Amino acid sequence: MLSVLLAALCVSALPVPVSADGGSRPVYAEDIQNGTYEIEAETLNSSMFRIVGCTLTVTDEAMTARVTLSGKGFGKLYAGRGAEADRADEGAVSSFGEDEEGRHTFEIPVSALDISVPLAGWSIKREQWYDYDVVFHSESLPDGAVTKPGNGWILPVAAGAAALALIGTIAAVGIKRRKNAGGAS
Ligand code: HEM
Repeated sequence: MLSVLLAALCVSALPVPVSADGGSRPVYAEDIQNGTYEIEAETLNSSMFRIVGCTLTVTDEAMTARVTLSGKGFGKLYAGRGAEADRADEGAVSSFGEDEEGRHTFEIPVSALDISVPLAGWSIKREQWYDYDVVFHSESLPDGAVTKPGNGWILPVAAGAAALALIGTIAAVGIKRRKNAGGAS
């Protein structure tokens, strides 16, 4: 009975996948020291939406990014899906600025790093929103900037719980055997 309980405890402690990009954990504003950083951002579902520059600003509770796109095709950016962008407040949709090379830049909120977040880009030519999935990478932050790395504690805790469960099971089986042996003599 004890071993069943311990095994159940062990299974319940196993990490639950929390991201769409295969294992990494979200990193939030409160996990990062306040500051402004150059980081990398990757589009998961298209080669036509390339973020070639990303300046992340972290304050106590929120993150924003100044995103530079490779080309001039997109006129607006929205941190969500295109279908929502049309209904969103005007202030929530970012119009483009330009960098020194004439590339389009946008200011957008970033909810978390290391997980797939939705971004919608408005194609000037096609006059419609396109949905993209983007990951802002915390590994490109300087050493020490991340003070609490994502949910990285889950694995060690799960491993500890599994080890405890195993020891408990072995001990329970041992006690049972000794009792049985004692009863027979
Ligand atoms: C269903 C087909 C396609 C769709 C819906 C599509 C959509 C888009 C969109 C929305 C953009 C950015 C904004 C704009 O310029 O309108 C774009 C850019 C681009 N597309 Fe496509 N595209 C398609 C096919 C292709 C193909 C077949 C190629 C080349 C093999 C291509 C090459 C490019 C390039 C080079 C850019 C510019 C990327 C940049 O500025 O960095 N596209 N496309």
